[in-house]
Amino acid sequence: MKRYEKFADEIAELIRTGVLQPGQKVPSVRHASRTYGVSPSTVFQAYYLLEDRGLIQARPRSGYFVREHAKRPLHEPDISPRPAETTDVDVSELVFSVLGSLRDPNTVPFGSAFPSADLFPLQRLARSMAQSVRDMPVREVISEMTSGNPDLLRQIALRYMVGGVMLPMEELVITTGAMEALNLCLQVVTEPGDLVAIEAPAFYATLQVLERLKLKAVEIPVHPREGIDLEVLADSLANLPIKACWLMSSLQNPLGASMSEARKQQLYELLQRHQVPLIEDDVYAELYFTREPPKPVKSHDRDGLVMHCGSFSKSLAPGYRVGWVAGGRYAEQISRLKLMTTISPSVPAQAAIADYLQHGGYDRHLRKLRHALEMQQGAMLASAARHFPASTRVTRPSGGYFLWFEFPEQVDSLQLLQLALAQGISLAPGPIFSATRRYRNCARLNHGHPWNERSEKAMELLGRMIKSF
Ligand SMILES: Cc1ncc(COP(=O)(O)O)c(C=O)c1O
Repeated sequence: MKRYEKFADEIAELIRTGVLQPGQKVPSVRHASRTYGVSPSTVFQAYYLLEDRGLIQARPRSGYFVREHAKRPLHEPDISPRPAETTDVDVSELVFSVLGSLRDPNTVPFGSAFPSADLFPLQRLARSMAQSVRDMPVREVISEMTSGNPDLLRQIALRYMVGGVMLPMEELVITTGAMEALNLCLQVVTEPGDLVAIEAPAFYATLQVLERLKLKAVEIPVHPREGIDLEVLADSLANLPIKACWLMSSLQNPLGASMSEARKQQLYELLQRHQVPLIEDDVYAELYFTREPPKPVKSHDRDGLVMHCGSFSKSLAPGYRVGWVAGGRYAEQISRLKLMTTISPSVPAQAAIADYLQHGGYDRHLRKLRHALEMQQGAMLASAARHFPASTRVTRPSGGYFLWFEFPEQVDSLQLLQLALAQGISLAPGPIFSATRRYRNCARLNHGHPWNERSEKAMELLGRMIKSF
């Protein structure tokens, strides 16, 4: 064990035993370094580690503080290694019936796929929409349908550049949300009957797209912290004629896993060796809580093998349906397929987002959004620790607005959903995230809504229901 790991464990023990209380400041780096006889860099590394474990949190210009849930944290899930599974996909019925049951706007929306609309600058966006449509030369309404809004393309390319990814603008195709981008990418590189490597658990719409295109899933397990199991993936690529890989390397839905830079690089090298294209779903890219934004696998792409899909749905403008793909060597095919199917996302919606990105203060909005989501994550973790059985496990993502819970073995999350709905609470049950209907005792809960008494009460009720199994 390295010195900083040992020091981090000592601080964690002080938190666990209540010497350091939730909300309390941990010793400053200078103070800790002097008092405990360790170098400032050791203290920094230890605090980064504790931050990563979700136990402490930096406040701008004030230092590090113990997080609210930190005293009695629930353990993280420990997904045991298992081989890949190849399967036909037949989940749509289940997914639609579950999603249908989540629509009631009066429920506590733990099952929702979106954060609260209150967290988005919708009024400011509306002004951008009005302004840009008023100023739009008539000719552009038609010409931009085929090529995409040039200001929006430039703004997206700039954001890639600032994030360390140099992209020629010709690689970018604007789409109707990331969902269209992902669909197009998969259609460009597969034929019905092909095998596609996906994550287990995976975003349920991934499973539905495979089902619709009559593709077979090779489910590769995902570790809640490290991301997709590279050994299992390597083995599958060596032994199966896999035509594409579709995954999320950062803030994976539903586990929240983010791969390290080194593992992203390994993943790229592996796929490159087999010349298997990667469809990288990165819709939560902007919702990180870490100091540095996570970089996509796309940042390692040397020969256009990675199709990187993004969206404004989760970070700025849900309902505007504007996403994109940086399509690498497949960009032209993707663009043509888009023209043959939907032609173009709405031109006014593109113009509104382009205007907002130029003048609306996107980065300021994102800082506020990330802060709200991080606070709400802490509140949900603390509440779960208070009300759920102590053997419950929960992920600790470094961003986004989902937590993945693993309840005791006997809990059936599909039944739990029915019990919860009857009490006005929704949740996303584990089996909708798997082609093989695993994760029966698991559920994904959304903390993207302002935390209040109703949320706390709902967690208490859920806890009672879980204990009743
Ligand atoms: C993992 C993931 N990918 C893609 C999408 C779709 O994004 P969009 O709304 O931009 O189509 C979602 C939305 O729920 C998602 O969670």
